[in-house]
Amino acid sequence: MPSDRLLLRGRILTFQSEPQSVDDTSSHVYIKDGALLVENGVILARGTYSEVVAEARDAQIVDHRPHLLTAGFIDTHIHFPQVQIIASWGAQLLDWLNTYTFPEETRFADEGHASAMACRFFDLLINHGTTTSVAYCSVHKGSANAYFEEAEQRNMRVIGGKVLMDRNAPDGLRDTPQSGYDDSKELIAKWHGKGRAHYAITPRFAITSTPEQMATAGALVTEHPDCFVQTHLSENRNEIAYTLELYPEARDYLDVYQSYGLLSDKMLLGHSIHLEPREIDALAETGARPVFCPTSNLFLGSGLFDDAGLKAKGIVNAIATDIGAGTSYSMLQTLNEGYKILQLQDQKLHPLQAFHWITRGNAVALGLEDKIGTLDPGTEADIVVLNSRATDAMALRMERATSLSEELFVLQMLGDDRTIDEVYVAGRAQKGGKALSYSMQEGARALVS
Ligand code: GUN
Ligand code: ZN
Repeated sequence: MPSDRLLLRGRILTFQSEPQSVDDTSSHVYIKDGALLVENGVILARGTYSEVVAEARDAQIVDHRPHLLTAGFIDTHIHFPQVQIIASWGAQLLDWLNTYTFPEETRFADEGHASAMACRFFDLLINHGTTTSVAYCSVHKGSANAYFEEAEQRNMRVIGGKVLMDRNAPDGLRDTPQSGYDDSKELIAKWHGKGRAHYAITPRFAITSTPEQMATAGALVTEHPDCFVQTHLSENRNEIAYTLELYPEARDYLDVYQSYGLLSDKMLLGHSIHLEPREIDALAETGARPVFCPTSNLFLGSGLFDDAGLKAKGIVNAIATDIGAGTSYSMLQTLNEGYKILQLQDQKLHPLQAFHWITRGNAVALGLEDKIGTLDPGTEADIVVLNSRATDAMALRMERATSLSEELFVLQMLGDDRTIDEVYVAGRAQKGGKALSYSMQEGARALVS
């Protein structure tokens, strides 16, 4: 009988702080012949292989050498009902929403469709190495149930919420202040804190919510201060102008959300590109988190996220795909495009900082770093196994790589789903275990699968 305890062998990389430079070795732990001991979904021990195996001779050994083990990736902004409109041509934000996105999301009134798409959605996330998603569901309560049910089956730590939207959207895609409030309450009672799930109160953005609905969103936040809050902010210039027409009392776009009491360190603000100085100060004061969505911002021609400018004010930025305006499920490809957006502004996204961002950095932005985002003992065993030579182009480039940072940069620029050799969710292998697995009872090395 194979043991329940898994010993994962490979090169281990985990972060303990945000790297300050390309050679900031104090920011991370890197173990060349390392091992993680995993039991009941949790990491019990981390160390060199010889240290860990001495403590756990009964464990099932899974040999991932020469691959690299990191914490599972965290995607902090993604739209689950947009999986079938990714790569829809030609429009900027408001036209894209009206032409493709809103008609597509009306299909999620059908719970069978929502469940089928939730299954495909999480398959895609896992295949790309993402073990935690922060998702917008559609306006329909059933779409949020489908999202949480599928995540529960897979034992994934997820955040999500049904969108609140009661205007400027087609029939079949609007709630009312009362129904949106009631449905959100019901979903919070059902899912928030159940297993690994968290609820996010989700007013879609100012344009699709009346002031009456924003007030109910504010009431939900007051009544459930431990829920997350997510919305969109200053993604596109026409969006900003229209928002200010709809909310003439607001000092600026962020003030719409601020005046209804939505801002705190539990709030995630997708895009946050075209910000006024007052908005930046308010983000810094409240601890609300801007979310950089590189592939989406390029795809919709939205603009360039000012990572360094916000960070200089002490703001904690998250990073995300924003599927379906985003064009890749891969957080590695998200880093690739993020690198280029920052290059255009003479800012640097060096490889240690990049890998920190999609793991511990995003966990810190969510306040969940005691649970996910690292390979620290006591945290949940969400782990990805990365093959730096997964494609011919990567293998050829890797022949000349001489440092960990260089290898990480190859992964950051060239990696995608082909790079993800295995994924563990709460300690369970998701991709069929290509690695060599054996037990070491009494020192014998017997192949068991
Ligand atoms: N703003 C409001 N809704 C959306 C959406 O679905 N995607 C993006 N990129 N921006 C939005
Ligand atoms: Zn979005």
